[in-house]
Amino acid sequence: MNNLDTIKPTIILVFGATGDLAKRKLFPAFYNLYLDGRMPEKFEIVALGRAKSSDDTFRSNVSTNLTAFSRNKITSEKAYQKFASHITYLQNDIDQEESFQILKSKLDAIDLSFGERANRLFYLSIAPSFIVTISNNIKKLDLAANPEQDRIIIEKPFGYNKSSAELLNKLLSETFKEKQIYRIDHYLGKETVQNILAFRFGNSMFEPLWNRNFIDSVQITVAEEVGVEDRGSFYEGAGALRDMIQNHLMQILTMVAMEAPNSLQADEIRNRKADVLKAIRRITAEEVKHYTVRGQYDKGSIKDKQVPGYLQEKGVGANSNTETFVAMKFYLDNWRWQDVPFYVRTGKRMKEKQSSIVIQFNPVTHSTFSFGKENMMPNRLIINIQPAMDIRLQFMTKKPGLSLSLKPAEMVFDYFSCSTQSPEAYETLLLDALQGDPTLFMRSDQVEEAWDVVTTIQEAWENDKFSSLYKYEAGGWGPEAANELLARQGHAWASNTLNDVEPEEKK
Ligand code: BG6
Repeated sequence: MNNLDTIKPTIILVFGATGDLAKRKLFPAFYNLYLDGRMPEKFEIVALGRAKSSDDTFRSNVSTNLTAFSRNKITSEKAYQKFASHITYLQNDIDQEESFQILKSKLDAIDLSFGERANRLFYLSIAPSFIVTISNNIKKLDLAANPEQDRIIIEKPFGYNKSSAELLNKLLSETFKEKQIYRIDHYLGKETVQNILAFRFGNSMFEPLWNRNFIDSVQITVAEEVGVEDRGSFYEGAGALRDMIQNHLMQILTMVAMEAPNSLQADEIRNRKADVLKAIRRITAEEVKHYTVRGQYDKGSIKDKQVPGYLQEKGVGANSNTETFVAMKFYLDNWRWQDVPFYVRTGKRMKEKQSSIVIQFNPVTHSTFSFGKENMMPNRLIINIQPAMDIRLQFMTKKPGLSLSLKPAEMVFDYFSCSTQSPEAYETLLLDALQGDPTLFMRSDQVEEAWDVVTTIQEAWENDKFSSLYKYEAGGWGPEAANELLARQGHAWASNTLNDVEPEEKK
């Protein structure tokens, strides 16, 4: 959503600078923005961490991490040093006011060297339990006193249920105005997710069809091959519902279902998204089993490699009932979407990494073709978010030959045909935050509504610990119950490309 405005001098403060996210995503994003000439002319990154380190050691670690994780690699040591000269490391103990005194002196010194009071962008890449302490210390020392210049980015998870999110919003509001708070959901920074808006509202031919009169159902899949890796102990307290559904999948859903915004103003877009979250039907505890399926991966094999089950992962309790897979359906009670099921699923250790949206159109009203309706594939529009980045339109066409029989075909727009190098989500989002554009970040009401949607489910699962947790073999598409969820309404999870469709169906 960014434009080319020159950004004022900025100090970026990264709390948790030695952590995984900073290593893999944040510093590579700063580096790539720097190479693209998108960083402010004057900027300083102050990396904060508990460990003792020198500027040189920290910069050399950043260099190693860029080699591993950045889309643009370091081409010359001299060029890297130019970027690295903008980074300083400061040991910081979040609980100690004294650490924040030192930070304040550092900020003042940088302002002095810039010759003006710079913007301040606080990035909290730390465990959620530290957010309030940091925010309080920022307030005590008046570090973010200018609402026009100072911003804070907060990583997910934003709370762990509705009431904790409300409390966090309230506590943050004691230090920051809402317009200063940037709650990040990195899915919103993905090119193909942003393209949903462009596709829906930059064309005239799809929007008239984009409603209950023409659309039969919608599917959203975010499947991962990875397991919980070394995040077992974090994941134990989260599970797929909190980790993925409440944020990433629900945000994608809002992009698919929202009404057309009147403008690209941040609040206009965020209002339309909040409307969708409000329209999602709240289900009762008794209905949870009917609307949701949860699963946990067992051992299995992915691409010929044996992988352990969730219970064998480090940091996971031997009897854990944390879900690593969720499939569920949503209904939106509004004019556009009444009675159209939105099926969503996400899981770890699935057959392949794949995030996609399938818009399935109504079947033909009357089939004129001799073989009847059963061999007809419904028209589908498929938006592949990652790793494939494309849009596919599937329709029936005449099979070449003397007889009049049909077969499915698809037209493909491949995102990579426009550009082979697309920015990473964090680059887009950091640039937006540097420029003060909150469009792709979540407002307090959006986060709270999203939690509200899952509250009953969270509670029902907590009260009914083991009965409905299905095991699924790693390397598949989740438990059979996830297929039954759709089959009950005559639906099935659709492939994200025609290439995977069974030859029988293609004939
Ligand atoms: C994170 C979740 O928000 O998103 C992780 O905490 C998940 O569990 C990750 O693996 C997926 O992101 P991406 O961009 O790799 O699809």
